[in-house]
Amino acid sequence: MKVLVIGNGGREHALAWKLARSPKVHRVYVAPGNGGTASHGHLENLPLTEPEALADFAESEKIGLTVVGPEAPLSAGVVDVFRSRGLRIFGPSRAAARLESSKAYAKEFMQRHGIPTAHYATFTDAREAHAYLDRVGAPIVVKADGLAAGKGVVVATTLAQAHEAVDFMLVDNTLGVQHNEGGARVVIEECLQGEEASFIVLVDGTHVLPLASSQDHKRLLDGDEGPNTGGMGAYSPAPVVTPNVHARVMHEVIQPTVDGMARDGVPFTGFLYAGLMIDADGHPRTLEFNTRMGDPETQPILMRLKSDLFDVLMHATDGTLDQVELQWDRRVALGVVMASAGYPLQPRKGDAITGLPEEADDAMVFHAGTQRDGSTLRTSGGRVLCVTALGDNVRLAQQRAYEVLRGIHFDGAQYRRDIGHRAIRR
Ligand code: AMP
Ligand code: GLY
Repeated sequence: MKVLVIGNGGREHALAWKLARSPKVHRVYVAPGNGGTASHGHLENLPLTEPEALADFAESEKIGLTVVGPEAPLSAGVVDVFRSRGLRIFGPSRAAARLESSKAYAKEFMQRHGIPTAHYATFTDAREAHAYLDRVGAPIVVKADGLAAGKGVVVATTLAQAHEAVDFMLVDNTLGVQHNEGGARVVIEECLQGEEASFIVLVDGTHVLPLASSQDHKRLLDGDEGPNTGGMGAYSPAPVVTPNVHARVMHEVIQPTVDGMARDGVPFTGFLYAGLMIDADGHPRTLEFNTRMGDPETQPILMRLKSDLFDVLMHATDGTLDQVELQWDRRVALGVVMASAGYPLQPRKGDAITGLPEEADDAMVFHAGTQRDGSTLRTSGGRVLCVTALGDNVRLAQQRAYEVLRGIHFDGAQYRRDIGHRAIRR
């Protein structure tokens, strides 16, 4: 069978790598792909991004399954286009993808269905937003409604930061947020305390199959300092997701979301990712929904998955996820992102990358912003590589990942030295 993966990041490299390991898959196309997916044995890049062009290709090449990595093609309606042409694809419809593409929609949905989340208010008018901020005070969180590549959230510790965020989100749009209908909008919400975890499940419209838990590191610098990024590293499992927390998340967040979407007439299919804040009592609250897998969470999660991902996704697109049980490597997987100079604001491109190791059973280097230039591999985006390793515990996985990482070089490389620190301190 031939498979198509849509996207060009580290998540898509990991998806394609894992799918290619299935004995039933002989070719994985990655559209548009990156320098890592261009070179690998069963993988091939495809310079396409438009939904109709992708569907044309899937039809003419008899692609048996398409998987969507990032949010942009989902909110452009790629799943709707494929389905209308009878093509098998795993992901949410454009309407269901609003759980991610509109924070205001997601908050209203959660409130209506009793899903635990921070108290909030929504504004389109900057004066009203400023007045509200003055009433509630700091700390407070300001979020742009539309998609902003992970950069549309400001956790403001002072009122001045919050007012500034309202201005650049609502008035200047310096982040280039993709506005939804009705123009710029912000969600202002209560600042929650606790520990974060990424809880990702597969949904076939009715049944839910949870993946292993994980934790991301959103800030650029060690000690969770500096600006928010798309994610600088991740590991799986996340010890904060105890069996008790797991049960509560399924019961209080995931199942009500899947049921609520079905009841609202927008049945959810695809990966559903709940970004959670878990307080000291193990009470989970939803910070956000993503309607796709996380990047970089996918890289460590898929390193640990022993089951055949292709089989799992065939069940997911047949509506038979209740027949699947996933097998996991008991080891911990940990991935460290190497980003280019200037990331996240102005990533530099074109630096030569050297020292990449051979693929090993316990270590993989997944590519994101890389591009082949003859025999040279060069940086071509913000997050460049995700060095991912397995180990018997977090410390050993961390040691192995950094050992591999130290052999890799490109000018201006930025990476955190403390990925996994929360799990090690525990
Ligand atoms: P989001 O894109 O909504 O997940 O937000 C990005 C990051 O901002 C999250 O991973 C959290 O670290 C932080 N964040 C978002 N909402 C809140 C909140 N209500 N309270 C505290 N931190 C938050
Ligand atoms: N790593 C966070 C995300 O994929 O949204």
